[in-house]
Amino acid sequence: MSTGNMDVSLIEEKITDETKLIVPVHYSGNPIDLKELASIAEDYNVKIIEDAAHALGALYEGERIGNCEYSEMSIFSFHPVKHITTGEGGMVLTNNKDYYTKLRLFRSHGVTKNNFVNESDGDWYYEMHYLGFNYRMTDIQASLGLSQLRKLDGFVARRRYIAERYDKVFKDNPYFETIKVKDCCQSSYHLYPILLNNEYQDKKKLIFSKLHSEGLGVQVHYIPVYLQPYYQNLGYKRGSCPVSEDFYKSEITIPLYPGMSDSDVDYVISKVFKVFNNL
Ligand SMILES: Cc1ncc(COP(=O)(O)O)c(C=O)c1O
Repeated sequence: MSTGNMDVSLIEEKITDETKLIVPVHYSGNPIDLKELASIAEDYNVKIIEDAAHALGALYEGERIGNCEYSEMSIFSFHPVKHITTGEGGMVLTNNKDYYTKLRLFRSHGVTKNNFVNESDGDWYYEMHYLGFNYRMTDIQASLGLSQLRKLDGFVARRRYIAERYDKVFKDNPYFETIKVKDCCQSSYHLYPILLNNEYQDKKKLIFSKLHSEGLGVQVHYIPVYLQPYYQNLGYKRGSCPVSEDFYKSEITIPLYPGMSDSDVDYVISKVFKVFNNL
């Protein structure tokens, strides 16, 4: 059974003198074992930035993903499909004051009204310290985000409830496996992936289209990034990450979102079994 995450036991052999950073994704909202990862990163003096885009509300050893106990920063996405939304946008969390200051500067064209390098010309004075960006969220978006944040625990609880129902009915079925969540962790279930057993993988196209025809909004998360034309043009070759490629062959995401009613969940379960039982 796969966690869908980076295999921490294989990281060490991939670290070279060039490696500065490890960016684990908490895939589908299922936290990677951060303590194990951090102990390797420390041995090699490599930093960690958590890609927590799927993991708002997830817990690692009882603490929320995003507390940065084992990392320099955690990043979140507030795209509409995520746990909470601001339309578009996201959030970076860090406990490091220097990163915090720099991130705020990058957000706004590298411009500051504090800590001047040169003497101030007057009350209007500002300085540009870095080549930054315009990554500002509007106040309207921020206001939506704050009201969404108050609903987060309810959203995540509903996602967990639905995932538990799926886990129960799909346990030990002959067609596919589901994602393994380790004892140290509680997933926030951004996604509910099913992973086709070997003998069904060459029927993935058919299975996907049948699920779709039954009215299920299925998707595949993800095509390995280096198989995209941009990275192919940079020289990345098929076969370089065989585990990701196998995962891609097996993965289909079935619907899971907090607005699903219990009968929606029943519908998904019955249609999934209908499709697989009639292959
Ligand atoms: C794992 C992961 N990281 C990063 C992102 C990017 O998030 P955004 O589109 O909000 O920048 C996504 C978006 O879906 C994602 O799934």
